[in-house]
Amino acid sequence: MDDARRDRLIAMLPKAELHLHIEGSLEPEMLFALAERNNVRIPFATVEEVRAAYAFSNLQDFLDIYYQGMAVLLKEQDFFDLTFAYLERAYADNVRHVEIFFDPQGHTERGVAFDTAIGGILRALKAGQAQFGISHRLILCFLRHLDEAAAFATLAEAEPWLDQIAGVGLDSSEVGHPPSKFARVFAAARAKGLKLVAHAGEEGPPDYVWEALDQLHVDRIDHGNRALEDERLVQRIIADGQTLTVCPLSNLKLCVIDRIDDSPVRTMLARGIRATVNSDDPAYFGGYVNANFRAVAKALDLDSAQLVQLAENSFSGSFLPDPEKAAHIAAVHAVAAAG
Ligand code: ADE
Ligand code: ZN
Repeated sequence: MDDARRDRLIAMLPKAELHLHIEGSLEPEMLFALAERNNVRIPFATVEEVRAAYAFSNLQDFLDIYYQGMAVLLKEQDFFDLTFAYLERAYADNVRHVEIFFDPQGHTERGVAFDTAIGGILRALKAGQAQFGISHRLILCFLRHLDEAAAFATLAEAEPWLDQIAGVGLDSSEVGHPPSKFARVFAAARAKGLKLVAHAGEEGPPDYVWEALDQLHVDRIDHGNRALEDERLVQRIIADGQTLTVCPLSNLKLCVIDRIDDSPVRTMLARGIRATVNSDDPAYFGGYVNANFRAVAKALDLDSAQLVQLAENSFSGSFLPDPEKAAHIAAVHAVAAAG
């Protein structure tokens, strides 16, 4: 398939995005606008300077800048604007459903109330549903570099909002903070009826993916790249029908892979793993979901059947009820048949 035809198919396919940190969608232009609106000093003079600072050699390099960027998010309206801007981008990419992460501890730690952050995010998600017809789930992530007590305190703060939170996740600095550290808080979240996801195998070893499965009992694995190093683990992921939310441009920018050609997406599909393509922190990594699809499709020479499979996986791996999954998947196949 030539590039133009492939890119047209990518643009036309309905998709869900399952791995997106809303704070990672803060574009440099909005960073400046909010800094000015809220009188926050930022250590950059121009948008170009900001983009030049987005050269990372590992996950921690990125996280340092990511947490710094959050400093401009102070008011409910800031969280609304951030989330609504992401939904506009998602709509342009034909994303029909989003399951987005937020990092409340990144806000409460600097004195912004939990309710301020979640209130603005949820208001925008509802506006996005009304205006663009994009359905949503919100996932609260615990910062794994903080301790178990802090995660429990965050879960307690979330209590009044639990009817609007679909699940909990685990993100931030992976190595040295294994999933087992959060086994009890994940059990508590499960007891409240929440879905469970965790970043595992991005930089951390396959053992962390095992822990996410066996100790956290996750419903989905975020990234999971390094699972491919362990054949028994691959078999377990396939047997469980686990979804992996892969983020190709993120992997490249954070040096999880050396070249986009090394993205594990094609291998995962060939092995029968339910892999999906996502943007992670698109403002920092150079592209939203379609840009991620285009990058891997070109580098790995994916054919239309593989692209359709990825779009289908994004819905089958979502937390939507089965009839809604089926309707979206039928729409994916209708586009495939027409193309
Ligand atoms: N927080 C935001 N993006 C992240 C990533 N890719 N890995 C871990 N924590 C994150
Ligand atoms: Zn992530």
